[in-house]
Amino acid sequence: MNNANADASVPSAAPTGPGSGTGPSAAPTGPGSGTGPSAAPTGPGSGTGPSAAPTGPGNSPKASAASTGVGATQGVPISPALPADGTVVLKAEGLGKTFTAPVPVPAVRGVNLSIARGELVALVGPSGSGKSTLLAMLGGLLRPSAGEVTLCGTALAKASDDDLARVRNVSLGFVFQFHHLLAELTALENVALPGIIAAREGWITRDPAAVEARARDLLGAVGLGSREDHLPAQLSGGEAQRVTLARALMNGPALVLADEPTGNLDRVTAAGLMDLMERMNREQGQAFLVATHNAELEQRASRVLKLVGGEMAT
Ligand SMILES: Nc1ncnc2c1ncn2[C@@H]1O[C@H](COP(=O)(O)OP(=O)(O)OP(=O)(O)O)[C@@H](O)[C@H]1O
Ligand SMILES: [Mg+2]
Repeated sequence: MNNANADASVPSAAPTGPGSGTGPSAAPTGPGSGTGPSAAPTGPGSGTGPSAAPTGPGNSPKASAASTGVGATQGVPISPALPADGTVVLKAEGLGKTFTAPVPVPAVRGVNLSIARGELVALVGPSGSGKSTLLAMLGGLLRPSAGEVTLCGTALAKASDDDLARVRNVSLGFVFQFHHLLAELTALENVALPGIIAAREGWITRDPAAVEARARDLLGAVGLGSREDHLPAQLSGGEAQRVTLARALMNGPALVLADEPTGNLDRVTAAGLMDLMERMNREQGQAFLVATHNAELEQRASRVLKLVGGEMAT
């Protein structure tokens, strides 16, 4: 479909509010991709089962799209809503989070960062260094103790609940380690959901047929055209993550935040997902900020940010 994205911008479904202060392990707050980063897996398709199907050769960082079973993306044009190349889509200034219970933990301290359109940035650091906490704040899922986040020109702390919900739906996509697909919806319905919400709320003008067509295009683009009617439990872990990525791209967001998206996948399947993220980044211009322990993903990034003890290492 030609102009599916003319009005489109993003994938995340309606969030319920900025961080309740419960931390990155908070339970999912909304029906779409705007869910808590460390929530429990929602189904057997979360990557650990024997059905996890390899999606590509895995070893080669330059594995081709064809070799990873990923389809063409011609039907999924870059959103005209995306800002021009080089535009800063995400900015954090003096960002900090101290958890107060059960003991005080200064999880993130004085972080400054900015991500421009089209960048593929890896966020690395030892376990416990604050990566998930940082991503949760950047995505408006967790209220910072200090500092501010500006997403596509909207200062999250000052935004009304409505504005926050809109900017998260229209400008952000989320992909987490466990896929958070809704168990009772098919793959196609899961991908379409953020678009349905955006249309219903009037954030994006798009009729139901166009929403469905775009969801179908995206599923095809991630190589799952033949799995439209599968429920999450009927998908392999790698397939479920590809559905999650398609959902994250539904509204053509300026930025995708991903928290260990390959952490639950075998090496080959993880490589397939990386190929896909790289390709979506290249072809659709979305910026990606990906927290990862995966050295290969780090290698593929255009820039690497490192957190140590909650602080950005230089
Ligand atoms: N909800 C919470 N309440 C209290 N402390 C928390 C909460 N969530 C995280 N923490 C603490 O904050 C610190 C940073 O945790 P975070 O999950 O951000 O680390 P991470 O870098 O994502 O680690 P990993 O690589 O293991 O996922 C940890 O020391 C953790 O114990
Ligand atoms: Mg983490």
